[in-house]
Amino acid sequence: MKKRIFLILTVMTAFCLTACSQSSKNKENKNMKTLVAYFSASGTTRKAAERLAKATGATLCEIQPQQPYTDADLDWTDKQSRSNVEMENRNSRPAIKKLSVNIADYDVIYVGFPIWWYTCPTIINTFMESADFKGKTVIPFATSGGSTIAKACTDLKTAYPEVNWKSGLLMNGVSDSEINKWINR
Ligand SMILES: Cc1cc2nc3c(=O)[nH]c(=O)nc-3n(C[C@H](O)[C@H](O)[C@H](O)COP(=O)(O)O)c2cc1C
Repeated sequence: MKKRIFLILTVMTAFCLTACSQSSKNKENKNMKTLVAYFSASGTTRKAAERLAKATGATLCEIQPQQPYTDADLDWTDKQSRSNVEMENRNSRPAIKKLSVNIADYDVIYVGFPIWWYTCPTIINTFMESADFKGKTVIPFATSGGSTIAKACTDLKTAYPEVNWKSGLLMNGVSDSEINKWINR
């Protein structure tokens, strides 16, 4: 009899402990503030960012250049175009407008951009250096004409090792279920 009572009490305690830990985990997730910040020169990454913000329930924030990019600025066939000149000098930091949010208020930040010359545009460096990201979870996403996001992720990790980087997603033609799988991972 004593053995039975002991067994029941052990099972009940284990159940309570699991339930409590699960509920505090859910609370933690609910309390995590998430931001989707993106730069888009011609609208493709904007659409991806909007999908992501919807899927995550996150706040959406555009990283806007002080001086918008014209079609001529984005002509990658012209060595002298603004985008090519900026990408040629990896220390360039194109000025951005004041963000509509305070980065300090967020724990998880998705950062989106078009792939330029196999990596992220230097305006993303401006963004990363515009606030304190130390210890924050940052997750890259991108759109491209076909290149992967791999080099951009490596370059960002190398430039900002103090950030808790998570694996990025190239959002070219991804399905909602692929997005959800990635978010949950
Ligand atoms: C200057 C420049 C360089 C680019 N370099 C690449 C590249 O290396 N690989 C690639 O697949 N696409 C490249 N692209 C294409 C863009 O990544 C692609 O069109 C992207 O979806 C545009 O996003 P946006 O409309 O949000 O600006 C480049 C575009 C520009 C303007």
